Amino acid sequence: MSHRILRSALLFITTAAIGLPVLAQSWQVPKPSPGLMPNATTGKKLFEKNCASCHGINLKGSKEGPPFLHPYYVPSHHGDPAFQLAVKNGVQAHHWKFGDMKPVPGLSPNDVAHITAYVRYQQRLVGIK
Ligand code: HEC
Repeated sequence: MSHRILRSALLFITTAAIGLPVLAQSWQVPKPSPGLMPNATTGKKLFEKNCASCHGINLKGSKEGPPFLHPYYVPSHHGDPAFQLAVKNGVQAHHWKFGDMKPVPGLSPNDVAHITAYVRYQQRLVGIK
């Protein structure tokens, strides 16, 4: 093997070795504590503080973001991991024209599990399940 090829091979391996864990980490779904009982009442407060400005105080959306009381967000299409990933990594606009959602800092995976419980509860009330 010539030096040039060897060098690009090494560069490739190094890049992959550094890049993959970073990628893997950002796509790893944050996990709530084992045994956590997600609580919709706790979730409601967290939602109103962190999400309602865009997703609407009654989950009906706003000028900044989409409603969760919408068939797009049935659990079978956007499962609970989608909430963990959205908060951690943000969301690239794909369903709507509001633009991207930025990551929301300062929330633990447990907080997000409570928020998700609140969203699911409200969805069930309007028959989205
Ligand atoms: C600054 C506005 C904004 C805030 C604050 C915000 N979101 Fe979003 N969110 C958006 C927008 C816009 C989209 C839609 C992206 C698209 O076009 O699909 C979205 C989409 C989502 C999705 C769908 C993800 C997917 O895979 O399609 C989830 C889940 C979500 N948000 C959860 C949350 C939660 C939970 C919070 C609060 C902790 C929150 N968002 C706060 C703007 C926001």
